[in-house]
Amino acid sequence: MLDQFGRTIEYMRISVTERCNLRCTYCMPAEGIKQMRCKDLLSYEEIIRLAKIFAELGIKKIKLTGGEPLVRLNICQLIAELKAIPQIEQVTITTNGVLLPQMAKDLIAAGLDGVNISLDSVNRESFHQLTLCDQLPNVLQGIDTLLALNFKSIKLNCVPIAGINEDQLMDIAGFAQKYPISVRFIELMPIGMAHDFTAIETTKVLSMLQERYGVLTPYTSQLGNGPATYYSLPNFKGKIGFIEAMHHKFCTNCNRVRLTSNGFLKLCLQYDKGIDLKDLLRSQKADNVIREVIEETIYQKPKEHLFDDSSIVEGKDQRNMFQVGG
Ligand code: GTP
Ligand code: 5AD
Ligand code: SF4
Repeated sequence: MLDQFGRTIEYMRISVTERCNLRCTYCMPAEGIKQMRCKDLLSYEEIIRLAKIFAELGIKKIKLTGGEPLVRLNICQLIAELKAIPQIEQVTITTNGVLLPQMAKDLIAAGLDGVNISLDSVNRESFHQLTLCDQLPNVLQGIDTLLALNFKSIKLNCVPIAGINEDQLMDIAGFAQKYPISVRFIELMPIGMAHDFTAIETTKVLSMLQERYGVLTPYTSQLGNGPATYYSLPNFKGKIGFIEAMHHKFCTNCNRVRLTSNGFLKLCLQYDKGIDLKDLLRSQKADNVIREVIEETIYQKPKEHLFDDSSIVEGKDQRNMFQVGG
């Protein structure tokens, strides 16, 4: 499936819930969010129906996101059903890791191909301050559990934020030294609550890494399907990656669309452009009609995000990160 700029769209991020068992201060309000009405949430049956249509159109890889995807009941069942779609080559998940200790085994048995874990601090107190929950031990145990099960594709996501976790970054990078795990530093994007925080510049993180761990060599082979660029470091088992969401744009090679948990097909992270597929699904339309609508909508995918241009107001999505799934 091609968009109007000739980009091949083969990767889909499906958010399965807005709910989360953490309250990262740059993402969610402390009091939590207004719960979505049950009937607005896409059922697994509806997600599978859509995934099959998307797969016929060329989607090969699916990333499950949230909120926190592991809080949705029977997620392993969804993973197994997505994996059973012939064209789908890969199903991965982005999670905060809190529920991994008890769920890792079943997730792997369901056929999950990769786990990205958000980790912004490895100090129990600062993790608690940042997420408003004292859950670091569970997240660390979750990583251990995956490693003990010999699970190969683990990545850590860390968002460096000024005055919040600067002193944690090098210890988090240390996971890539000790284990075959890639650690990615993600540039904070000004979405929702994140407007009140300031990102730590990538150049700064790079020089901290160089000082602590040695020379960084660009790693050019393909790793993952996303916007990260990777480096190797001396004696590191894993790679260090950067997702420069704001500056070095990866829009020219963008391969993805997003589906929110209430069925909105979102074309680009920044804009509200897209279509409500839930209404269409529930309107007795045949799959081929839905397929045509999806194809026409995706063709319209915007050229690029312009997060760094604050003058852009029109068409900007008002959704928060927990509603979009990152
Ligand atoms: P893999 O490397 O294939 O596992 O995928 P990924 O890095 O895309 O997945 P992940 O869910 O771990 O996302 C990491 C970060 O990249 C999140 O903060 C996302 O918001 C961000 N991100 C993912 N896709 C895009 C995109 O199209 N544009 C921008 N600006 N950021 C994105
Ligand atoms: N900018 C960049 N990354 C963000 N995440 C959440 N909010 C933002 C933001 N405003 C990250 C989470 C998680 C991933 C899915 O997105 O930390 O790792
Ligand atoms: Fe939950 Fe992820 Fe948002 Fe943190 S960033 S509150 S883990 S959805």
